[in-house]
Amino acid sequence: MQAQLLHPISNPCNFFRIAVMILDEAPLFDPGLLAELDWSQNMVSFCPDISPVHPGAGLVLRPLCTSDLDRGFYKVLGQLTKVGDVTTEQFIKKFEHMKQSGDYYAVVVEDLNLGQIVATATLIMEHKFIHGCAKRGRIEEVVVSDECRGKQLGKLLLSVLTLLSKKLGCYKVTLECKPKNVAFYEKFGYVASDETYMQRRFSD
Ligand SMILES: CC(C)(COP(=O)(O)OP(=O)(O)OC[C@H]1O[C@@H](n2cnc3c(N)ncnc32)[C@H](O)[C@@H]1OP(=O)(O)O)[C@@H](O)C(=O)NCCC(=O)NCCS
Repeated sequence: MQAQLLHPISNPCNFFRIAVMILDEAPLFDPGLLAELDWSQNMVSFCPDISPVHPGAGLVLRPLCTSDLDRGFYKVLGQLTKVGDVTTEQFIKKFEHMKQSGDYYAVVVEDLNLGQIVATATLIMEHKFIHGCAKRGRIEEVVVSDECRGKQLGKLLLSVLTLLSKKLGCYKVTLECKPKNVAFYEKFGYVASDETYMQRRFSD
């Protein structure tokens, strides 16, 4: 009886555990949103010319999917901050939570020849009661893998998420950055606020 309970198929709970562990290509959000951006409103120049639809030879810009876990998504994020020991199950649960909320727009650049993620950034929608029940965008986790820096991918990601925040109806979009990166974000029209960013950490 006990052996039967432990069997993955005969025990519905175990079967569910297996089912949710499958990584796939389902996008976090509608990829059409990226293709439909009005690229003429982009504030920076690209040389050579690249765009969300044509990010460069062998590259694709698209929404995050769970299969990106096996394409080095965390390896890239690890170049920005501590990522922790995340299991596949934790990753999928978090992805599903973000997808169901409809407020998370994590984009990745994949090198199709390597099958690896080389850059990522995320736009998050914050819903307000103020400003006529407006939406504010927040850009987080902007990182380009060190071997791909200086190839305009950071500029591409920031341009895309800034335009996306406008398209999605945000009244403003904000981000926090280190002083050394201020000049990078100023290229896209961001200006330093006179407000001070404060935090209280409960863990690392
Ligand atoms: C900051 C970062 C995202 C830039 O990405 P990138 O792909 O290397 O940058 P790009 O090739 O798109 O560079 C775009 C332009 O910004 C400039 N630039 C790049 N990094 C810059 C910085 N830190 N400060 C000022 N300008 C910068 C480049 O000189 C280039 O200028 P140009 O268009 O006039 O030629 C990347 O260096 C990175 O991932 N750094 C580590 C993680 C990090 O700090 N993320 C930001 C968290 S707030």
